[in-house]
Amino acid sequence: MHQEIKPRTKILVFKDTERISTKVAQILQELKTYPKHQPIHIALSGGNTPKAIFKILHEKYVTELAGNRFHFWWGDERCVSPDHDESNFKWAYTYWLKPIGIPEANIHRIHGENDPDEEIIRYSEEMKKWIKTENAMPRFDVIFLGLGDDGHTASIFPSQMQLLDRKEWCAVATHPASGQKRITLTGNVLNNARQVVFISTGTNKAAIIKKIVIDEAPEFPASHIKPVDGETVWLIDEEAASKLPSLS
Ligand code: 6PG
Repeated sequence: MHQEIKPRTKILVFKDTERISTKVAQILQELKTYPKHQPIHIALSGGNTPKAIFKILHEKYVTELAGNRFHFWWGDERCVSPDHDESNFKWAYTYWLKPIGIPEANIHRIHGENDPDEEIIRYSEEMKKWIKTENAMPRFDVIFLGLGDDGHTASIFPSQMQLLDRKEWCAVATHPASGQKRITLTGNVLNNARQVVFISTGTNKAAIIKKIVIDEAPEFPASHIKPVDGETVWLIDEEAASKLPSLS
């Protein structure tokens, strides 16, 4: 089922994570129609939701997604080492990118082990080197995002809404509960993408999804993520969709 709830915003509801993964593979596969010489830049989200998807993409879509067309980045990273269980890079790499043989040069992880204030500069320089800019910002082909039940996305938390409009491409954030330092792409970079794809599952996300997608409640950072010249797609399961008006 899908519903175009507002211009350039689509909600796609799936029975399970397996079917969401198939849609993710299809989205990536469609990008391969780009001119052959053109690299494709994808930013991955962190947290737990994508882990199962990474595994399914490895098990079922190796051939479609392998090769050197895709460059992988992260929308945010925890300030931990790359082998730490909380590292967003670790699970994408372990479950998907390494097993399908993505060239190391195409994997652009945020160095969570570095001093955060230095890393935001280094990562911005790396984006500048590889990704074409539009509106003086890197224009990702697809940015995958998760959604916290407090309405945060990437590592832009409700207590740090200023990270939505910073002119810098990356910023240092602080998790409001744990105090953990994070590095995040800023809201303007997220909104400069061709396509933003939110992936969220489970009953515990149903209330916040309704507040963001339907109510567009301004107090939540995710409500402000809608690419200026691009598309927003929500890939959610039936539990996460349970508080949305019936999708005709
Ligand atoms: C992170 C994320 C964050 C995440 C949401 C949802 O580094 O944690 O990028 O934005 O996507 O918190 O996390 P879950 O998928 O674990 O619910």
